[in-house]
This record gives sequence, C-alpha cells and structure tokens, in this order.
Amino acid sequence: MNKKVRKAIIPAAGLGTRFLPATKAIAKEMLPIVDIPTIQYIIQEAVDSGIEEILIITNSNKHAMENHFDKNYELEERLKESGKLEQVKMIQDIADMANIYYIRQKEPKGLGHAVLCAKSFIGDEPFAVLLGDDVVVNKEGKPALKQLIEQYGKTSASVIGVQTVDKKDVSKYGIVEPSKSHPAKGRLVKLTDMVEKPAVEKAPSQLA
Ligand code: UTP
Repeated sequence: MNKKVRKAIIPAAGLGTRFLPATKAIAKEMLPIVDIPTIQYIIQEAVDSGIEEILIITNSNKHAMENHFDKNYELEERLKESGKLEQVKMIQDIADMANIYYIRQKEPKGLGHAVLCAKSFIGDEPFAVLLGDDVVVNKEGKPALKQLIEQYGKTSASVIGVQTVDKKDVSKYGIVEPSKSHPAKGRLVKLTDMVEKPAVEKAPSQLA
C-alpha cells in the first residue's frame, strides 16, 4: 500500500517578474485576492486535503510570508483592547493552520531546483507540490489536491493537475504530452513527456 501523502512543498522563491512592480518587495504569493493572500488559499487547500507538514521554499524577500503565518501578539493585544474579538480569532486561526517550515533557495535556479531544496525535509515519503501562485477553486467539492492524492493512491504514479489553455497561450506554460498508445480513462491521462514553455507549433497538447 502507498504511504499517506502527509507533506507538501510550496515553491515560492521565484522572482515574480510578470507582476512587477507589485513584487519588488513582496512575494507574488502574498498578493491578495480581495483580502486574503493567495498563499493562504493554497495552504487551506493543502490542509483540507490531509496535508500535515508544509515546507515553503522562499527567498530573501519572504519575511512577510513568514510573519503572516506566525503569531502577532502585539496586534492581538491591540485588537483585544479595542474589543475586536472576531478579528483576534481570525488572525489566531491563520497562525494555527498547519505546521509550516521555511527553507531558502539561495539563487533563483528554477522550479525544479526549488523542489530539490526540499529533499531532506521529504526523505523517502510521497509528497505534494503546490505552486504558490495558482489557486484552484472547487466550491463544495473535493479540493484539487485531494483528487490528485486519490489518483496517486490508485495508480502509485506521480499525478499532475492540468488545465486546458488557449493555443496562443501554450508558450507561457509547462505543457504535457498525453500518451498516444494509452487512451484516456475519463479525466485520467497517461503522460509521456512535458515541455516547458514550448513554441505553439512544438506544443504536444494544450494541457498546461
Ligand atoms: P514561475 O515560472 O511562475 O516563475 O515559477 P517566477 O519567477 O515566480 O515568475 P516570473 O516568470 O518571473 O513572473 C513557478 C513557481 O516556481 C517558483 C515560483 O515562486 C512559482 O511558484 N519558483 C520559480 C521558485 O521557487 N524558484 C525559482 O527559481 C523559480
């Protein structure tokens, strides 16, 4: 039987050049969707999928992220003094979401290198990788990561969640190559390769 997937890695050490100037001093994972930073949605998805330990790969710009998931006693006290107890609970709940650890990727050598920085944290366990800038919403349904973990349980293979993108956009993404000899089983497709940001004419599919 496969070991339970208990650990997740969130690589968040990219330069975020597409979001400059917002990302000059703040990680793109801290940019909010209305009033919640993206990374908080991602961590909620991991927790809702049964993940117990999370390692965030950061760079030198990530203090805001660490502070966001830490206790802030001064803020708690001030909110208590002004009777804002609902807000006190809200910020306490964020600090209690999961066991979160951090490691620095010292140079931005790419996503693969960022994942490799988690080698000793993971040991020989199966693990999940969630990209800190990609929120998948499945209201009232199973979180996307939980669906991937279930498929891992059935196939014992690495499982990747993909989305169909417009042909003109394939060069912005990593694109997977579906197997020609294994027909898709429902939404489960065997993959034979993947290409990072291919030219439109070289893209093996529109699955990003
Ligand atoms: P992206 O391809 O989105 O790169 O990385 P980026 O550097 O963040 O953004 P742009 O292209 O400059 O706008 C995919 C994921 O891998 C992480 C990013 O934080 C993002 O979650 N990453 C990327 C790292 O952790 N380290 C790297 O060296 C590169």
